[in-house]
Amino acid sequence: MSGAAIFPDGFRWGAATAAYQVEGATSADGRAPSVWDTFVRRPGAVLGGDTGDVAVDHYHRFREDVAIMRDLGLTSYRFSVSWTRAQAPGGRGLAFYDRLVDALLDAGIEPWPTLYHWDLPQTLEDAGGWPVRDTAHRFADYAAEVHAVLGDRVRNWLTVNEPWCAAFLGYASGDHAPGRREPAAALHAAHHLMLAHGLAVQAMRAQRPDNLFGAAVNLYAVTPASDAEADVDAARRVDGLQNRFFLDPLLLGRYPGDVLADVERYGFAPPDADLALINQPVDHLGINYYSRHTVSGDPDSAPQAASSPFAEHSPWVGSEHVRFPSTGRPTTGMGWEIDPSGLAEVLVRLHREYPAVDLYITENGAGYQEEPANGTVHDAGRIGYLDGHLRACHDAIGAGVPLRGYFTWSLLDNFEWAWGYSRRFGLVHVDYATLRRAPKDSARWYAEVIRRGGPGE
Ligand code: FCB
Repeated sequence: MSGAAIFPDGFRWGAATAAYQVEGATSADGRAPSVWDTFVRRPGAVLGGDTGDVAVDHYHRFREDVAIMRDLGLTSYRFSVSWTRAQAPGGRGLAFYDRLVDALLDAGIEPWPTLYHWDLPQTLEDAGGWPVRDTAHRFADYAAEVHAVLGDRVRNWLTVNEPWCAAFLGYASGDHAPGRREPAAALHAAHHLMLAHGLAVQAMRAQRPDNLFGAAVNLYAVTPASDAEADVDAARRVDGLQNRFFLDPLLLGRYPGDVLADVERYGFAPPDADLALINQPVDHLGINYYSRHTVSGDPDSAPQAASSPFAEHSPWVGSEHVRFPSTGRPTTGMGWEIDPSGLAEVLVRLHREYPAVDLYITENGAGYQEEPANGTVHDAGRIGYLDGHLRACHDAIGAGVPLRGYFTWSLLDNFEWAWGYSRRFGLVHVDYATLRRAPKDSARWYAEVIRRGGPGE
């Protein structure tokens, strides 16, 4: 840490959560099950057999959580809407988001809802899930319903979160719900998630053209492990499936030709007309950044699994033999290498290679196994991680990147998918036995960053 890095006036300072990870109350007010409610009950799917049934009970404790946000000085809060809660009978579930939005606005905090953070209604999965085209249309209908109720008070909207994870962890490696291992279906899932985004933006913009719309993608800096041809090609493939397979359709209206060639054997041939639907003009793009992928290619190696406690199957459809050797950089408690320069690289690349659009970091943070000592969590590792990444954002802004805000993942410790409650990402510690919230050192540090307008000396 060195020197103050002060951000432009109006920069958004936020934190993010997602419905299934924090809300709990999974059967309150007529909420029907999502694929995650089903998946967590599959033996061996989630570490320790943990579920989101209670999570951190944000559904009942949101007023306390909004007060925490206000104390931190957050200007903005990114949360997700649970599809099955929003569609619960009699509007009782949707009323929760109405209350949440009003509580945020009363506290002077701008709401940033994400409409899909992986919790597909189980009924739609039973009808085929994301590999089926109709799911995209159903998503657009749902988006329009939520937007019709909240659009008068909510200006900024995110459609889908991390379509790479939803498609390739959900349908190829099976580490995430619905836990399918069907590579061809995963490609169609990715396509339909992007189609869902496009159709939803169209539907919502027709209702309120003055609102702002975008999606949140998880991007990585990608580097070959060496100059060897196999490594350079492996890095191209990983960058292709992870980054360009989403950015090119969303922002340029076409699929990258090299990735289509990589996945050719799966018969992926989406209708051309869909690309115009996917490529709706967006007002902003959310970037979730955690790490750099260093990639090597060895056609004889066993497939590399995703990062999950149980991962055995590769999400790298079309490039199953890519590997991710360690470079020796320090890692977080997830085993993810810490490399803030990768974030600046991703931002500058977006600015250079894609049409200009306002950018937001919609997730960035560090997960650890940590417990309080004397009532506080001294999370110097997280502070160092956030400080470094904020400085990378500041550098990118200095290089002309239109980065308008930063949401750290996460406000609170929560249900970390296949890792259950074993990894904590929060600025605020949650005691899972009592659900008591207690700010960690990083919460105090972030509040000071916000007060000053950036990290200090
Ligand atoms: C992202 C997810 C988010 C959280 C972080 C750690 O991939 O979008 O829900 O689990 O990782």
